[in-house]
Amino acid sequence: MSMDDSSPRCRLLLICGSLRSGSTNTALLKTAQTLVPPGVSATLYRGLDDLPHFNPDDEQSRLPAAVATLRAMLAAADAVLFSTPEYAGSLPGSFKNLLDWTVGDGLYAKPVGWINGSAHGAADGAHHTLRVVLGYVSADIVEDACVKIPIRRDIVGPNGTITDPSITSAINAVLSALVHRVNSRST
Ligand SMILES: Cc1cc2nc3c(=O)[nH]c(=O)nc-3n(C[C@H](O)[C@H](O)[C@H](O)COP(=O)(O)O)c2cc1C
Repeated sequence: MSMDDSSPRCRLLLICGSLRSGSTNTALLKTAQTLVPPGVSATLYRGLDDLPHFNPDDEQSRLPAAVATLRAMLAAADAVLFSTPEYAGSLPGSFKNLLDWTVGDGLYAKPVGWINGSAHGAADGAHHTLRVVLGYVSADIVEDACVKIPIRRDIVGPNGTITDPSITSAINAVLSALVHRVNSRST
């Protein structure tokens, strides 16, 4: 982390598992951007739709530009917060594709948390699968930053964020846990 007083002391990268234009999970992450405390930056990754299908051959000599961008953003982040819906009892395929691109490079020892926002159920499958994958890549899973938030689509405001206090307090707790882990590692 930078020691420059003008730089954020903690840089979070926010990654949404949904490509849907009106995604409630994107709304959760946009809301998180409004809630970060002073000294913390939160950048929303917007490249999910640009990633090619994972192919190990491409790791060797022709890494796709979109993957290089993703990995650079991961390398620049002190911690990563994911928010994803559940699809068919698991993760959306396009999001799993992103995670496959991180297996060799990107999330090792990185503090991570996740929010599983689901309109219909507990999203246990998405929660479980994300834990398996992030454990496999040896990310540093911050338990207090891993939550399920049932969410209705009509709770998202016209500016794409959420003001419901039960949701903002849950997001605040997630952010606090991630920042605490980053700060405790850097002292
Ligand atoms: C193809 C598909 C499969 C889904 N499967 C599940 C599921 O297994 N469990 C669940 O709780 N919700 C399921 N849902 C509902 C989504 O998780 C829910 O609508 C979620 O809020 C969408 O997130 P988003 O608003 O960020 O796109 C599914 C939705 C779609 C489109």
